[in-house]
Amino acid sequence: MIINLRPTANILQSNFLDVNERRYIIAEEIEGLLMAVLNVNIDHVATVRQARVTDEPDPVWAATECELAGANGITVHLRQDRRHINDRDVRLLKETVACKLNLEMCMAEPIVKIAEQIKPDQVTLVPEKRAELTTEGGLDCVRHKKRLAQVVKRMHKKRILVSTFIAPAKAQITASAETGCDAVELHTGMYANAKSQRAIEKRLRELKEAKDLAMESNLIVHAGHGLTYRNIAGVAQIKGLCEFNIGHSIIARAVFVGIRQATAEMIRLIDKFS
Ligand code: PXP
Repeated sequence: MIINLRPTANILQSNFLDVNERRYIIAEEIEGLLMAVLNVNIDHVATVRQARVTDEPDPVWAATECELAGANGITVHLRQDRRHINDRDVRLLKETVACKLNLEMCMAEPIVKIAEQIKPDQVTLVPEKRAELTTEGGLDCVRHKKRLAQVVKRMHKKRILVSTFIAPAKAQITASAETGCDAVELHTGMYANAKSQRAIEKRLRELKEAKDLAMESNLIVHAGHGLTYRNIAGVAQIKGLCEFNIGHSIIARAVFVGIRQATAEMIRLIDKFS
């Protein structure tokens, strides 16, 4: 079994460093190591639990299993409708996750207040629509620039890193940088849905160009959405993409092979191609 604890996880726990110091060290590490890491999104463990509104399977157990497999981080989305992850989960995860805890959330005031109280290592800001099956598009950082700047300030006060989940578009990157975000997560959904080789290559070019621009703007660059064991190679090869947030594909495989093995297999692929 590969134990894959990465230095970024340790740095994120260094609470004596302020956000800017931590961000600088992480950026230095990424430059030096050019190494991508995996955050496992465990929302769908909670989806299964909520199918019977019971207490199993517990996403907190899942997080431990992912960590034991070498995940660098755990991602959960606390949605306003609490359809999967709930407040209790986020509280317990904050107490038990030893690697990075990345809280996906929208910018609605009650959710922002919860983040301020729980203080995850990182928040990833996403748009949220009640009727959607999963997060559909990127956050419009241009349209919501004023609110974004306020949220960034409040998160930084609590020493929480801020990432925005955005389309790989120049205006979104610029708005993220101008509002003081630490990172952006590039939406890989269009890449994941591309069918022909030509379309796949076009989407990869877009992601690479967006990654270059984000790095020039001093942003750390993450990626996620729709990534699977079959399509991870293409994005893992883009140097400088340093963190992948992957949920559905890992949890789907976990049904058959267990979550520890499913996580380890994804890490192995990321390591192989990055
Ligand atoms: N990144 C973000 C911002 C997301 O909203 C999601 C879905 O919750 C993911 C990554 C993971 O996507 P998937 O479940 O398709 O791997």
